Amino acid sequence: MANQQRAGLTVLITGANRGIGLELAKAFITQGHQVWGTAREASPPELLSAGPAGVVSFDLADESSIAAGVADLSNQIERLDVLINSAGIDARAFNAPIEARGPFDLDADTFAAVTRVNAVGPMVVTREALPLLRRSDQPTIVNISSQLGSMEVAANRGIDTSYCVSKAALNMLTVKSAAALGPEGMTVIAVHPGWVSTEMGGEAAPLSPATSASALYELIANLSPADNGRFLQWDGQPHPW
Ligand SMILES: NC(=O)c1ccc[n+]([C@@H]2O[C@H](COP(=O)([O-])OP(=O)(O)OC[C@H]3O[C@@H](n4cnc5c(N)ncnc54)[C@H](OP(=O)(O)O)[C@@H]3O)[C@@H](O)[C@H]2O)c1
Repeated sequence: MANQQRAGLTVLITGANRGIGLELAKAFITQGHQVWGTAREASPPELLSAGPAGVVSFDLADESSIAAGVADLSNQIERLDVLINSAGIDARAFNAPIEARGPFDLDADTFAAVTRVNAVGPMVVTREALPLLRRSDQPTIVNISSQLGSMEVAANRGIDTSYCVSKAALNMLTVKSAAALGPEGMTVIAVHPGWVSTEMGGEAAPLSPATSASALYELIANLSPADNGRFLQWDGQPHPW
């Protein structure tokens, strides 16, 4: 990472209505950046009270809604400097019981639906945002992954196989995006935000959403093309693949 913190960025954050995405939006807004947050609801109250430049509505499971949302954004901004794909789910979103999320517990549609949101969704958002990103002088794409997308870590951790598979897919999307976009000057990384006390992370998690987001802000604002293709954790340390 370079030591030159970037200023005056235009930033798009998915899942900015709550959790880590909301706290990331607050962190970027506080530092004077122009933040656009996505949400499935049209008027997310907590995001709106943080003072974003605007809200983009789409559902990551719905390709045409993503295309329409980013097209709408394209009519309002000249360029996008940072795209943060933060929104994500695990199989609890489909009411999978905690004791039934192993490798062979879920029906195929539920299993695939988690990857549809966590990996296919970010692919579509990134694809649709590429024309805007290409107008930035230092385009950056941050995929909020998880330690549970790491082969090394998830071999012995993580009760929700559909989630682990989806984040491993997001990691591969990161690697392939970095290879495809790095030559044109883009920086694409995957990052594990830590175990964070959001609705997904639960109350026992040691990191607050604000603490994770503030560390992620420092990391993201200091990224440079030398970081392209890396998997990092929230504090900037390398994460094993
Ligand atoms: N919390 C942790 O300990 C932890 C650890 C590792 C990685 N992560 C990753 O960090 C990211 C943020 O997680 P979080 O803890 O902040 O989770 P969270 O509090 O549960 O928030 C999830 C966000 O994703 C959005 N979302 C879910 N399904 C969506 C869909 N189909 N279309 C659009 N948006 C959708 C939610 O919007 P709605 O309000 O509309 O549902 C919400 O904004 C996720 O990618 C997660 O996998 C979290």
